[in-house]
Amino acid sequence: MLKMIDLPYPLNSLEPYYSKETLDLHYNILYKGYVDNTNQTQEKLKKARDTGDFSNIKCLEKNLSFFGSGAILHELFFLNMGIPIPTEPSIKLMQQIVKDFGNYEKFKNQFTEASKAVEASGWCLLVWVPKWSKLEILQCEKHQNLTLWGCKPLLVLDMWEHSYYLQYHTNRADYISAFWNIINWNEVNKRFT
Ligand SMILES: [Fe+2]
Repeated sequence: MLKMIDLPYPLNSLEPYYSKETLDLHYNILYKGYVDNTNQTQEKLKKARDTGDFSNIKCLEKNLSFFGSGAILHELFFLNMGIPIPTEPSIKLMQQIVKDFGNYEKFKNQFTEASKAVEASGWCLLVWVPKWSKLEILQCEKHQNLTLWGCKPLLVLDMWEHSYYLQYHTNRADYISAFWNIINWNEVNKRFT
């Protein structure tokens, strides 16, 4: 069961930059909704596994991404804000910012402009890309794109047509069933470890 994080500061402590009313609504109503709905979705997924009734699977997986990513991003957001006393990136983080963006001002400009340009509802994120050992700035429309932010892929199956059409044509089920014969669990185990 996912639990709401406690706010490490009182509701009025971000003022005047972020009002008590705004934070109250954001944390107690909206964020709570994401956490509650993630828990409900996980319950429904358990029920589907137990009964073998996966007729609603597409909707459930979408809800898991939407509510789960909503919960995760709001936690990061609330925790990466704090009472308005100056703090700054550590020496190590600043070195990385300078390496990847040129300097702090250039990083701040890109983050600001990328935030302004987020289409409709979404997020702007400074992220660490482990594969590239590099910082990047990403926009995220809505907040899920059918993933959970911060998750680590363990076992992946390519469902693009190019991966099966030549051999299986439109028969996705046969392709998926064949896939179970050629999984290298040693590699998956390694990733999990
Ligand atoms: Fe929000």
